[in-house]
Amino acid sequence: MKTEFTLEPIEKASEDELRALQLQRLKSTLAHAYANSAVYRAKFDAAGVHPQDCRSLSDLAKFPFTTKADLRDSYPFGMFAVARDKLARIHASSGTTGKPTVVGYTLNDIDTWSHCVARSIRAAGARPGDTVHVSYGYGLFTGGLGAHYGAEKLGLTVVPFGGGQTERQVQLINDFRPDIIMVTPSYMLALADEFERQGLSARDSSLRLGIFGAEPWTNDMRLNIEQRMGMDAVDIYGLSEVIGPGVASECVETKDGPTIWEDHFYPEIINPETGEPVADGELGELVFTSLSKEAMPIIRYRTRDLTRLLPGTARTMRRMEKITGRSDDMMIIRGVNVFPTQIEELILRQPALSAHYQCVLTREGPLDHLMVKVETLAGLSPDSPQAKAAAQALVHEAKAYIGTSLNVELCAEASIERSHGKAKRVVDLRKR
Ligand code: DLL
Repeated sequence: MKTEFTLEPIEKASEDELRALQLQRLKSTLAHAYANSAVYRAKFDAAGVHPQDCRSLSDLAKFPFTTKADLRDSYPFGMFAVARDKLARIHASSGTTGKPTVVGYTLNDIDTWSHCVARSIRAAGARPGDTVHVSYGYGLFTGGLGAHYGAEKLGLTVVPFGGGQTERQVQLINDFRPDIIMVTPSYMLALADEFERQGLSARDSSLRLGIFGAEPWTNDMRLNIEQRMGMDAVDIYGLSEVIGPGVASECVETKDGPTIWEDHFYPEIINPETGEPVADGELGELVFTSLSKEAMPIIRYRTRDLTRLLPGTARTMRRMEKITGRSDDMMIIRGVNVFPTQIEELILRQPALSAHYQCVLTREGPLDHLMVKVETLAGLSPDSPQAKAAAQALVHEAKAYIGTSLNVELCAEASIERSHGKAKRVVDLRKR
């Protein structure tokens, strides 16, 4: 048995051992950030805290948060805590809303990151000798290269396809017979459709395991993909500011929410309004502090992702509940908070509807209005009685379960734009 495939000692460590390691790493991260990053020194000084004030893990709450605005304000390299010539790699967000956020890695950071992704792929159920098809985008996005280095580190064979060229991806999956695919769940659906378009059975493909992340997806979507593809579907979570994919990942034996790799990333949940930490089990905004990063230590980064911390199951480390939404994606329809994932759950309970959908927001007079565009199942006309009944049921269930009024537009197969990466679930046409 290759050693990479056995659990690391820290994955089996007692809680006391884990907390001791976290405290030791937290102290050195705070000291490193204060000594080497002008941004952190100014933030700590302004808040009247010093790294020596951290004597226990709960002391972290005395330190100021870091937000996306801090990264933007120090564009491009102001957050870095090492000299430029120590950087091995730079990634950046797409910057669709303003300046991109830039993140940097030393060679040690790349190694830590690869290690976390390798651990994630192993937890997902990889076996020695497996081949991994990577359809996350390569380039400045952390998905492709993150997955790639992790799979290589685990000793697997990588097919570095990247996003797009859907027809060719399916051909190569059919020819190269990979065991594992790493891709956004929404693009997995586009690939599944393409299998069928080419007259191939998606269920009978070589793929045994899918490692899906980079966007919110529900347990109903998991079932849908597992049934269509005949595979295990597990959740991988991460964000560029913290390191990229592999901050947390699901274990295939439990599929009960991503285990946070707590030896490298310390999680907190806060009340998004007051900023106060809340107890484990309570819903709030996820905040991360890196424990081992060199180039860009990140202290109390506000992710805007909403979840809760849960006790460990397959590992001693804590889990996070599968993310139901980012605060940025929350729609407020006539006073009711609605996340696209809540709509997704209801759609997938209707056998006549497909998993391709989009929420369109408009304003009629003073009132906000939600239109759910959803494709009917392949081969079923939007004008068919089954489709119309499903639309009616969706309207009814949205009112009953979410408490929101909405309209449904039934769309023909392949008429909603497919994304090659993260799906755009909300289209906001309201005038500002
Ligand atoms: O999406 C990193 C990644 C790549 C994760 C591939 C997993 C797989 P960013 O582009 O910085 O990084 O976007 C991070 O995406 O704050 C979440 O809102 C969302 N997100 C990432 N993974 C998940 C997930 C990558 N498993 C933002 N479930 C995060 C729900 C996710 N949302």
